[in-house]
Amino acid sequence: AKAIVSMADLDVQTVKALVERAEAFKNGAQLQVSSPVYAANLFFENSTRTHTSFDMAERKLGVSVIDFNPQASSMKKGETLYDTCLTLAAIGIRLLVIRHSENAYYKQLLNQPNLPVALINAGDGSGEHPSQSLLDMMTIHESFGRFKGLKVAIVGDLNHSRVARSNMEILNKLGAEVYFSGPKEWYDPKFDAFGQWQPLDDLIGDMDVMMLLRVQHERLNQAANASFNADTYAQQYGLTTERAAKMKPTTIMMHPGPINRGVEMASELVESPQSKFVTQMQNGVFMRMAMIESVLRGNQLGGLK
Ligand code: CP
Repeated sequence: AKAIVSMADLDVQTVKALVERAEAFKNGAQLQVSSPVYAANLFFENSTRTHTSFDMAERKLGVSVIDFNPQASSMKKGETLYDTCLTLAAIGIRLLVIRHSENAYYKQLLNQPNLPVALINAGDGSGEHPSQSLLDMMTIHESFGRFKGLKVAIVGDLNHSRVARSNMEILNKLGAEVYFSGPKEWYDPKFDAFGQWQPLDDLIGDMDVMMLLRVQHERLNQAANASFNADTYAQQYGLTTERAAKMKPTTIMMHPGPINRGVEMASELVESPQSKFVTQMQNGVFMRMAMIESVLRGNQLGGLK
């Protein structure tokens, strides 16, 4: 691929190939670029996992990472995202990894003659989060060896979640059965095209994967934030220890992070044997290596074809 910006653009074959390659990296496969490639990671929204694991993946592949701090950049003087990328491309950067609060910000950057760069979307507003989605697919594949027929529940703040949007799309294509739960006011009926909403207690005993979503306070309006009560949420929609006890012994729990411990998931479950929270973060580095390799090859960069 020349760019990876949306799961909607990736077919099943490509997703499976990326999962396979990420698993190979995890099992020790090595790759180094054979000619210099310079990357910049532009994070206009906060991040711990995605930012550092792209940085780690780039370094493991021999890609040189150029520091970029939005707060110290000329964007503070009004320079646009496009002109910022134009500048970085002119300087010699050939891989851009971008997280931005604007949905589909990447459309203005694709197929631009003066932007000869490989582009990866590290999250756009409430749009998509392809690298999280792909590392989630890797984690599911590692646990079950397949996708077809798996029952996957996506639970919580669905309306604001780019992870949910990316995952419902790809899980459907991969043949998994998708279920939704959480507050009805955070559920858009258009999600019915991908799966069915059910009360949490009705589906918990039957799922293979319980995927919990962070409550995105930064995207809730003032009234919703003012009326939010963490204990009430945990009781109604959270994966409490009582609920977890009803899961099958083979069910895995997933959360993209950051976790509000005791809200979406009881704190004692986060690092428990059925939880894949730490594995997801470990897998993120290997999946991002596979994604970077794919876009470098797509743009014939780093001596990769
Ligand atoms: N899951 C995720 O995107 O985490 P960060 O916001 O810390 O990158």
